Amino acid sequence: FLHPHSIAFKCFLCLFRSFVFKKTSRFYQRRSSKILSLVASFFAAAYVTKWKEFFPQRKLEYAPSFTSKVVTCATPEVLQVYLAWRQQNCHAKNQYETCFWMLVKSGKTISETQEVLKVCCCCFSVTDINDTQKQQKNELLFQKFGINYKTLPELFRQGSCLFKTKVEETVKHDENGNPVKRLRRKAVLVHSENIAARSFWNEHPSLYNDLGYFTKDIGRSEPDFVRSFQFENKLLPLTWVVVRIDGCHFHRFSDVHEFEKPNDEKALKLMNSCAVAVLEEFEDIQFAYGVSDEYSFVLKKESELYKRQSSKIVSPIASLFTSTYVTKWGEFFPQKVLKYPPSFDGRAVCYPTYKILLDYLAWRQVDCHINNQYNTCFWMLVKSGKTKTQSQDYLKGTQAREKNELLSNQFGIEYNSLPLIFRMGSSVFRLKESAAVENGVVSGKKLRLEGEVVVDHCNIIERCFWEEHPHILSYS
Ligand code: GTP
Ligand code: MG
Repeated sequence: FLHPHSIAFKCFLCLFRSFVFKKTSRFYQRRSSKILSLVASFFAAAYVTKWKEFFPQRKLEYAPSFTSKVVTCATPEVLQVYLAWRQQNCHAKNQYETCFWMLVKSGKTISETQEVLKVCCCCFSVTDINDTQKQQKNELLFQKFGINYKTLPELFRQGSCLFKTKVEETVKHDENGNPVKRLRRKAVLVHSENIAARSFWNEHPSLYNDLGYFTKDIGRSEPDFVRSFQFENKLLPLTWVVVRIDGCHFHRFSDVHEFEKPNDEKALKLMNSCAVAVLEEFEDIQFAYGVSDEYSFVLKKESELYKRQSSKIVSPIASLFTSTYVTKWGEFFPQKVLKYPPSFDGRAVCYPTYKILLDYLAWRQVDCHINNQYNTCFWMLVKSGKTKTQSQDYLKGTQAREKNELLSNQFGIEYNSLPLIFRMGSSVFRLKESAAVENGVVSGKKLRLEGEVVVDHCNIIERCFWEEHPHILSYS
C-alpha cells in the first residue's frame, strides 16, 4: 500500500471505512469515479451477502447504500494525518455515543440527553473536542454508570485495521514427507490503539514496504488539512446529469450463472427491478434506460442532490443498485444460487441541452439494437453447429437487412417479432397518471397509480415518445 500519492477511500453507512491503494496502483487506470463506485458497489454487495452470517435471526429490512469519495494522499505524512484523523473521529464519536445511549437508557429523553452533553462537553464536532471534554465524558461515564471507558471493547474505541501480510504456510508434503512451504498473502485484522503511530506502522513490513515509513509521531490531526486533499468533482449546474453504471466482468458473471444467450429475460428483469428501486429512492432521477449489464440514470437539470458532487451521486446509485441486485436475486432466480456477488462501476456525465441528452439516450438504444441483432444471429449460428470463430466470420461486414434475412431464412425468426425488452431495452420513469401497464419487472398488465415508477420498452429514439411524455424530463 502506502507511498506518496496513495489513495484513501471513505465509505460510510453510519460507519466509515477507508481503503488505501498504493501509490503505484493502476487499478481502473486511476479513474476516480470508477474506483470509488466500484469500492462502494462491492462493499454493498458483500454487506448484503454477509448479513445472514452475522444476523441469522434478523431480516435485512432494505438494501443499504454507501457514499464514497477519494482522498489523494500526496505523501506518507498526509496518509498518516488522514489515518490519525479517522481514528480520532472514531474515538470521539464512540465516546459521545456511549454517553448518549447510557443517559437514554437511564431514562432521559433524547433532547434532555443532548442538552446534558452540550453543557458537559460543549459540542460534538470532532474538531472542537479537546482533552478536557474527553475527560469530562469519561468522568460522566464513570461517576454515573460505573463504566471505565478504557475497558470498553477495542473494536468500538479504536476501530478496525485490516492489512495484507505474507505468511509461510505448508501447502503439501513431498514424497519424503517433508513439508513444502509457500508464502501466502493473508489478511490480518487488528484493533490498534494508534494506527498512525510510528511504532505500529513501522513494525509491519507489508505496510511500510508498500506504503512508506512514518518518520515521526504526530499528535492531534487537523481535519481541514486532510479535507484539502479530498478530490471534489462538482457537476456543472443546470445540466442534465447522466449516471451510467455498468456491470463489472459481466461476461464471466453471466457464464458462471448460466444466463440464457444472448438475452436472459429474468436477468434483465432483475436489472429493471433494481433500477425501479433506485428511482424510488432518488426523486431527482427522472428517467433511466437499461440494456444488457448497464443502466443510465438521468437526473433533473435543477437537481441539487449532494450539492452536485459527482462522487456522492455516483456511489450511492451504484451501491444501492448492487445491494438490491443481491437482495432480489432469489426472487428472479429461485432455483439458482448466487455464486458470488456482482459489482457495478459508475460515472457521471453532464449534458447541457435537451437535444444532446436525447441524442445520448438514442445512442444507447441504437447500441442495444445493434448488439441484440448481432448477438441473436451469432448465437443462432452457434446453436446450429458452427464454431464461434465461424459464426464471427460469417457475420463480418453484414448489414442489418442481411442479418434479418439470415434470421428469417435460416432460422424462421422474424427479428421484429422478438420480445421488445430485447430489442428496445428498458425505460424506467414515473407515470403521469394512473394506467394499466405492463411494468417490465413482472409479466401482465396491472393498474399503476400516478407517480408510480414503471418499466416500459419503448422507442426512445423517435422524438414522438418524448413529445407524448413531456413530463418525464419536465421539458417544456
Ligand atoms: P466490463 O464491463 O469491461 O467489466 O466487461 P463485461 O464483461 O461486463 O462486458 P460488457 O459490459 O462490455 O458487456 C456485458 C456482457 O454481459 C456481455 O458481453 C455478455 O457477456 C454479458 N451479458 C449481459 N446480459 C446478458 C444476458 O442477458 N445473457 C447473457 N448470456 N449474457 C449477458
Ligand atoms: Mg460490463
